[in-house]
Amino acid sequence: MAPKNYQLTDSATGKTSDLPVRSGTIGPDVLDVATLYRDHGVFTFDPGFGVTAACESRITYIDGDEGVLLYRGYPVEQLAEKSSFMEVSYLLLHGELPARKDLDIFVSNIRHHTMINETLLRFFNGFHHNAHPMAMVSAVVASMSAFYHDSMDINNPRHREIFAHRIIAKIPTIAAAAHKHSLGQPFVYPRNDLDYCSNLLHMFFAVPCAPYRVDPIYAQALDLLFILHADHEQNASTSTVRLAGSTGANPYAAISAGVSASGGPAHGGANEAVLEMLEEIGTADNIPKYVAMAKDKSSHFRLMGFGHRVYKNFDPRARLIREMCHKVLAKLGRSDNPLFELALRLEEVALKDEYFVARKLYPNVDFYSGIIYSALGIPRSMFTVMFALARTVGWVAHWQEMIADPAMRISRPRQLYSGPKRRDYTDIAGRA
Ligand code: ACO
Repeated sequence: MAPKNYQLTDSATGKTSDLPVRSGTIGPDVLDVATLYRDHGVFTFDPGFGVTAACESRITYIDGDEGVLLYRGYPVEQLAEKSSFMEVSYLLLHGELPARKDLDIFVSNIRHHTMINETLLRFFNGFHHNAHPMAMVSAVVASMSAFYHDSMDINNPRHREIFAHRIIAKIPTIAAAAHKHSLGQPFVYPRNDLDYCSNLLHMFFAVPCAPYRVDPIYAQALDLLFILHADHEQNASTSTVRLAGSTGANPYAAISAGVSASGGPAHGGANEAVLEMLEEIGTADNIPKYVAMAKDKSSHFRLMGFGHRVYKNFDPRARLIREMCHKVLAKLGRSDNPLFELALRLEEVALKDEYFVARKLYPNVDFYSGIIYSALGIPRSMFTVMFALARTVGWVAHWQEMIADPAMRISRPRQLYSGPKRRDYTDIAGRA
């Protein structure tokens, strides 16, 4: 079959050129506009990058119309049912599901790196007790570059691998340290005899003065949430990691940039905002009032946990998390959770409303995740840290993919300039 292309004609000059079309393995074709400025002297304009493929990637695929999410080709539903967060991490980083021996080596490598330098631990004392944990986590992750000069050559594949193991192993320890600092409790060291999520729960909830037993139901629930949050192709925080990393910045700086970008309520911060919103709504009687506010363009209020740039059908992760909410709350004997009831009712009302139907606004991954985190005893200010913790694996996979690509260039978007034209400096005495 002849290669597809689009012909572009400049209506003023009549000049034409062929823009090649590139096809992926699945998904829409993309128009290669790299020669546009050279041939026609124009840029493309796409604020928010709604239709711009910023890179080629082999990691994650989303079909927003069909509600499909694949990690390295595997449907997220299958991974959620059968896999584990460690196995999914290996898959995202290496491209294939591991053989038993490879998984054991990977898990052992992660366990080997769970402790953080004691000096790094002291950084937390510089924060006020009520500092938001995201501020502490992003600062401490950025500071890690000051500790690992021996293994930060981004062009050395072994150094990149050590970085990947370090950050994936240490981010739960950093998150737990931020949590303990907020509470004023002593830091709890990692336990390498526990699996990834059990160790996280242990570091969060154990105290030196009493025994603590990790509830396997809690660990399983967390593991599933982490699988569902592990990657989501070129979202805002992942694109931030790629952009920061494209300058050759050290990888800890790039991940810290991702943590910072993920904190906004339009992105990873939505899980915290959803619970705030549900508490504000309070009872089902108030739902119509808040739905009306969400539709009112002058109110600035949005239904948090609703809508997505890519999903114009149900977010498959939200469906899985909603099911998990039922299971987890039942297992914990808290089936009558009023916030969950309210969330279900709000979803029902919104999905029947013409405004949400017309704009294809459905619950996203974070509409229900905060309810599970709450049930597990994780405080609201830590929800977005949980998002960042799980997404670190995706960020690392994308950073690795980008750095290993010989065609990598610095990310440098252009603009449509609408400021003043050239003008001459006037002396202050001559200004009005
Ligand atoms: N409540 C009310 N109206 C909404 C909502 C919402 N949650 N989301 C979108 N809309 C409306 C917009 O006002 C717009 O209406 P208009 O066409 O009349 O102007 C239309 O739907 C399209 O929305 P955009 O803002 O253009 O969509 P965009 O793709 O830019 O934004 C986003 C996507 C940021 C997720 C948005 O839906 C939103 O703010 N949702 C709430 C926050 C949230 O839950 N974020 C988490 C996303 S998942 C994640 O990142 C982990």
